[in-house]
Amino acid sequence: MVSQIRFLMCAPDHYDVDYVINPWMEGNIHKSSRDRAVEQWNKLYNVIKDHAIVDLVTPQKGWPDMVFSANAGLVLGENVVLSRFLHKERQGEEPYFQQWFENNSFKVYTLPKDLPFEGAGDALLDREGRWLWAGYGFRSELDSHPYLAKWLDIEVISLRLMDERFYHLDTCFCPLANGYLLYYPGAFDSYSNRVIEMRVAPEKRIAIAEADAVNFACNAVNIESIVIMNKASDSLKSRLAEVGFQVIETPLTEFLKAGGAAKCLTLRVTEPVREEVHATTQVESRIIRLEGHLLDAGLINRALDLIVDMGGSFQVLKFNLGEQRQSTSAAEVRVSAPSHEVMEEIISQLIDLGAVDLPQDERDAKLEPVLQAGVAPDDFYVSTIYPTEVRVNGQWLKVENQRMDGAIAISSTANRLVARCKILRDLEIGEQVVVDVQGIRTIRKTESREQRNAQEFSFMSSGVSSERRVELVVEQVAWELRKIRDAGGKVVVTAGPVVIHTGGGEHLSRLIREGYVQGLLGGNAIAVHDIEQNMMGTSLGVDMKRGVAVRGGHRHHLKVINAIRRFGSITKAVDAGVITSGVMYECVKNDVPFVLAGSIRDDGPLPDTQMNLILAQQEYAQIIQGAEMILMLSSMLHSIGVGNMTPAGVKMVCVDINPAVVTKLSDRGSIESVGVVTDVGLFLSLLIQQLDKLTSPYVANVG
Ligand code: ARG
Repeated sequence: MVSQIRFLMCAPDHYDVDYVINPWMEGNIHKSSRDRAVEQWNKLYNVIKDHAIVDLVTPQKGWPDMVFSANAGLVLGENVVLSRFLHKERQGEEPYFQQWFENNSFKVYTLPKDLPFEGAGDALLDREGRWLWAGYGFRSELDSHPYLAKWLDIEVISLRLMDERFYHLDTCFCPLANGYLLYYPGAFDSYSNRVIEMRVAPEKRIAIAEADAVNFACNAVNIESIVIMNKASDSLKSRLAEVGFQVIETPLTEFLKAGGAAKCLTLRVTEPVREEVHATTQVESRIIRLEGHLLDAGLINRALDLIVDMGGSFQVLKFNLGEQRQSTSAAEVRVSAPSHEVMEEIISQLIDLGAVDLPQDERDAKLEPVLQAGVAPDDFYVSTIYPTEVRVNGQWLKVENQRMDGAIAISSTANRLVARCKILRDLEIGEQVVVDVQGIRTIRKTESREQRNAQEFSFMSSGVSSERRVELVVEQVAWELRKIRDAGGKVVVTAGPVVIHTGGGEHLSRLIREGYVQGLLGGNAIAVHDIEQNMMGTSLGVDMKRGVAVRGGHRHHLKVINAIRRFGSITKAVDAGVITSGVMYECVKNDVPFVLAGSIRDDGPLPDTQMNLILAQQEYAQIIQGAEMILMLSSMLHSIGVGNMTPAGVKMVCVDINPAVVTKLSDRGSIESVGVVTDVGLFLSLLIQQLDKLTSPYVANVG
């Protein structure tokens, strides 16, 4: 049945891979076969024609990528926002597409010069017409999104692309009929993943694996219940079938060489407008001013890099270059961010670099009262080591007791206001705390800017190595774990935060869930990082999906501590549904007792952390009682503590990347202890695999 839906396509008469503007084109210059391309394109054309009307735009010599008509522009109703290509290699296509739209009586909007936006390649309408998903990060600029919202009168949800292979939104994201979404989460940053998860219910999300993603499975054309794509795995096909979609595969390998497939080769030009939806966007902008040796000290690069790294975008409005060696420069930069939350993260970093508001934009700091002793308001500004001033009642106050990872509390004495850094637990009810990132500035000496690079936090920069004996030990440990579990025995785990950093959290969670662990011992850190990973997607500021440091991410763990402090305990936070997975979650849900022993270096701590070390030792000892095996996972501190209170006869398996720790712990002169020098995340993953092997039913191999 042919519906009234129309698509625009462009025949591949002049198609070829002539240049490289995306990773797929690398090594493929002039490697595609014209004949095969024509044949594949015709097949796609015919498939689409079976289900919809296809219009054609005349291909133009010298513009080989014009076949990818998705990049012509973005259509909604009568309106179209014409693409502004990032690369000059494609800019020449713009007038031809514009002509086609005008000939077909669309109202064409054009973006300001130098504001790239690549049409339906980077902007996809929710198939119910509720909103527009817009991508940025490679081809389209975040600052184009507010224009889309305004001109098309629709809500725009900005998503940041992180993986170069998925440089257009339509290469990794495909809204389907009935509110379903086909997408590859690995292509997005964790913030965007959260945004997606908030908008699309779990049962409507069809997250695909990398193997399907690299076959351009998300680059699909959806017409009602039909999904046309280059190729899909059987599991993806059945996944889609379960929810009522039929996949039609049509090979487009010649176009994959240029980084495009089914969706890229088409532009849907009938997009119904929903009367009740109107323009909104979360994109925020703010102008900041920077002064100093902006070029010599690399300050401007650092500022602009961090804006982009953190998911924002910028426009340099003014730059007054200091001409003498000693003279300083000044710049005004318009910063944009996809949401207020991201803006806050960016601005708090820029404040550390000395950024200030324009004089006319200066405003008082926002204050919120402490409602619960020892708990800051959610949005509190996390203090740094730099001398800070806050603006209260139009006056800049110097912050006393400056330290990092505190909150700034304002109190008033008889005749003056006082601003001080305080650690969370010292906050008192009624105190006013600085929240958000308004009315805050740091006073940085010009010279100190040069040294900044060296001082920048470099948590978690250690390397990883592995060891040959690992597999043997894993087999043995898996075997023991099974035996002990099946006999109703007791295994205790001591674990350090490295378990989480190395990606072992999900494996340890599974061990707990599947009954292999009867007690967990650790410190404040493992619980904080585990919960941070669950709540924020990062661990000590490292994005756990992508393994890269998130700028300013070290603040996350304090925010997590603060949140749990509000609930009063991990168990209460789990009960409240704030923690929904992870190691601590599984302990609570499976009644596995845990003890967190405090130490001098703990942040917070969590309400569960036992800061009275005498008590902590007693509680540890209680848990260890009767244990047959202790798995010591990368926590020198707690493992040594445990080692000291464990009687001989208990099997101890010590895993650590540092040979010295392993030697120290396993060298107890008893045969029961074994040491493994390896990455703990790897160890746990192997252990889980081995346990799966042991538990999967025996299948006789009948020849
Ligand atoms: N070679 C083209 C480019 O890099 C491919 C465009 C693919 N189009 C798309 N909508 N993803 O621009």
